[in-house]
Amino acid sequence: MNTVSVNLNQEIGVINPNIYGHFIEHIGGVIYDGIWVGTESSIPNEAGLRLDLIESLKRLEPPVIRWPGGCFAEAYHWRDGIGPRAQRPVRNGWWQRLDGFLENNHFGTEEFMRFCRSIAAEPYLAAGVSGVTPMEIRDWVDYCNAPRGTTTLAQEREQNGSGAPHRVRYWGLGNENWGFGGNYTPETYCADFRRFSSIVAGPTPAVFPDSTFRGYSFGDAESLKFIACGPNGDDYEWTERFFKAWKPGSYDSIIPIDGYSLHYYCGTTGSATRFNEPQWYELIHRALEMEQLIDRHRAIMDRFDPDRRISLVIDEWGTWHEIGSGPTRNEYQFEQQSTMRDAVIAALTLNTFNNRADVVGMANISQLVNCLQSLYLANGDSFIETPVFHVFDMYRRHKGARAVPVCVSGPSIEFEYEGEHKHVPQISCSASLTNGLLCLTLANLDISSSARVRVNTGDRNKYMVVRRCDLHADDPQSVNDTDSPTRVSPVECNLRASTDELLELAPAAVVRVELEAVV
Ligand code: AHR
Repeated sequence: MNTVSVNLNQEIGVINPNIYGHFIEHIGGVIYDGIWVGTESSIPNEAGLRLDLIESLKRLEPPVIRWPGGCFAEAYHWRDGIGPRAQRPVRNGWWQRLDGFLENNHFGTEEFMRFCRSIAAEPYLAAGVSGVTPMEIRDWVDYCNAPRGTTTLAQEREQNGSGAPHRVRYWGLGNENWGFGGNYTPETYCADFRRFSSIVAGPTPAVFPDSTFRGYSFGDAESLKFIACGPNGDDYEWTERFFKAWKPGSYDSIIPIDGYSLHYYCGTTGSATRFNEPQWYELIHRALEMEQLIDRHRAIMDRFDPDRRISLVIDEWGTWHEIGSGPTRNEYQFEQQSTMRDAVIAALTLNTFNNRADVVGMANISQLVNCLQSLYLANGDSFIETPVFHVFDMYRRHKGARAVPVCVSGPSIEFEYEGEHKHVPQISCSASLTNGLLCLTLANLDISSSARVRVNTGDRNKYMVVRRCDLHADDPQSVNDTDSPTRVSPVECNLRASTDELLELAPAAVVRVELEAVV
């Protein structure tokens, strides 16, 4: 049996809604077909944007969307994607050698902003640094944020249909610059981060502390938040050396870093949809490593940023399976199916983030549609919500809620993978409070046995379970597809159960329970 002890006298922090963010990139079928079907399409659309996707996302209320890459960002000229669509240039995008698609730039800044507005999400523009100049990015900020009728680029924006500024706050400066994004060292990337951020931002309060900032780049409403490229998974040396080179407090670091981005894909054990028990547990084990990655990178950052002004931004995370499991059988690069394994991994990862709400400022699952660990598979007329979508839907209550510590004690599961002996806990859990309502999200990591859970809220706090939602499939390898788009779907019910009654979680299940205080 497991015991989940919820400490209602302590608070980890407010769960930044941005932890439930998304990522979209120009690769395979993510943008074209996934999001953009075009204004002439027979697929129902809202000015070119896939309507069923928009309707589903409206329900999900995604807080933030990162675009246009990924690797794609490092070879992207933002000007290619504005103005009349028929006149936009056709390019070899970054992924062209792999996905074989030419980039016609029909989805650009205005279409992305419209997409964000239609689902009430905040835009996060991920700019490259290795293939473009700082002035290009400065111009992009100008185009997006300059007040109406001021600069020439603000006028151009108005001609393109957007008089009001887009008010973009989040700006990534570089993607995976330790790898395909220029193959930098931490020191050379840091030098470029400083070059880009200072040209894009101009004077900052760090240099002119007594001044009034009247311009549009800085100020209450439209301050720019820069996100620097952090490590690949467990590359702790990158973090150490980047922050040493950044030298906080010196004149060298006059531009504040708001976010430091970590990318971590827990990878695969082979097929997306066919796995045995050791393969199930191995991937769960790797997904749980996210806990350690956050804690250890943060511990290094704490030495350079003791006041924790910089938040960790995990702006790419997810599973990455063998190609070919998606509906187009790899016509769309990296498109993969999602089973209950992907759902459980999404759930335990979101629990990891909730349990570190004090240090994780944003996270973006990779990627929203037709790609890795996607919430949707959208292909022509077919539109499917995957089990991963249902996890995000079930976890919505946590957004903006106060995360409270949970301590889980219970059995662990031993397994062997490629000759190594390992173990994982039977369950993963996180908890949050909103207006007195306690929300617990649990994942049963056990593929073959149900888990029994006692919830302990302390002697002086009596709670009652009032609602429950279960996501489970008899076969954990089941998927949602065109034959059966709702095969894996959550089941919700209202109830009134005392916490003295044990919760029973089916094998390989994700469960949300909501509890009200008993007065
Ligand atoms: O999500 C696919 C790719 O994975 C992204 O472009 C890149 O940033 C990462 O390596």
